[in-house]
Amino acid sequence: MSEVLLETKNLKKYFDTPRGYLHAVDDVNLTIEKGKTLGIVGESGCGKSTLGRTILRLLPPTSGQVLFEGRDVATLDKKQMFNIRKEMQIIFQDPYSSLNPRKTIFQTISEPMIIHQMFETKEEVTNRTRELMETVGLAERYENIYPHEIDGGRRQRIGIARALALNPKFIVCDEPVSALDVSIQAQILNLMMDLQDSMGLTYMFITHDLSVVKHISDDIAVMYLGKVVEKASSDE
Ligand SMILES: Nc1ncnc2c1ncn2[C@@H]1O[C@H](COP(=O)(O)OP(=O)(O)OP(=O)(O)O)[C@@H](O)[C@H]1O
Ligand SMILES: [Mg+2]
Repeated sequence: MSEVLLETKNLKKYFDTPRGYLHAVDDVNLTIEKGKTLGIVGESGCGKSTLGRTILRLLPPTSGQVLFEGRDVATLDKKQMFNIRKEMQIIFQDPYSSLNPRKTIFQTISEPMIIHQMFETKEEVTNRTRELMETVGLAERYENIYPHEIDGGRRQRIGIARALALNPKFIVCDEPVSALDVSIQAQILNLMMDLQDSMGLTYMFITHDLSVVKHISDDIAVMYLGKVVEKASSDE
């Protein structure tokens, strides 16, 4: 039996602009089943990133609901939100601008675990960080270098390791391979699909690239001007 992990109900995010309200996300109803990938496609500016950020409550919704395991994320208090953050993560398009240039790879990956006090000892954090690096295919020799010293594919591996650090259930992947060379895109996509299988992850995968979305998604939703205009299985 399939189980719904995340559901949006009449979700809206309007931005108050000098020219009036911009309906970036307009009445979106989606469901994502546990362990599956929902692809989100649509032209630039149609609201894909805003939808992802609103689901994670990085942006407050204008109205509507985001149900994560049946609980409305919008009604959680600060403490509950802090806890649910562990379960919902994001991977960005450009790992270069989303990673702190002054932190080493080791520091970048271990930081969420320290903030969330996941372990009691330094040694446990170190072990877990090394394990994560191995999981995403980063050699231990990269531990003490900085994000700008390595190529885009490896940088995105850091972004993935960081997103995995708190053992999330759900990850919004916002164009995670769009900035990479085509030859490297396949490696990262395969890594993400392997991780999904081994960890039972659920993805919302945002992209404008139809061949990528078809490859990775179980279902696909097409957005246009803030609305979902079409939903279908990937095969369809
Ligand atoms: N903070 C904001 N304030 C005002 N308008 C915004 C804000 N963020 C996004 N928008 C607008 O909302 C709309 C949706 O933007 P969004 O970034 O979600 O689109 P997108 O589908 O992710 O585009 P892209 O494919 O280029 O990444 C756009 O018109 C954008 O200009
Ligand atoms: Mg975007």
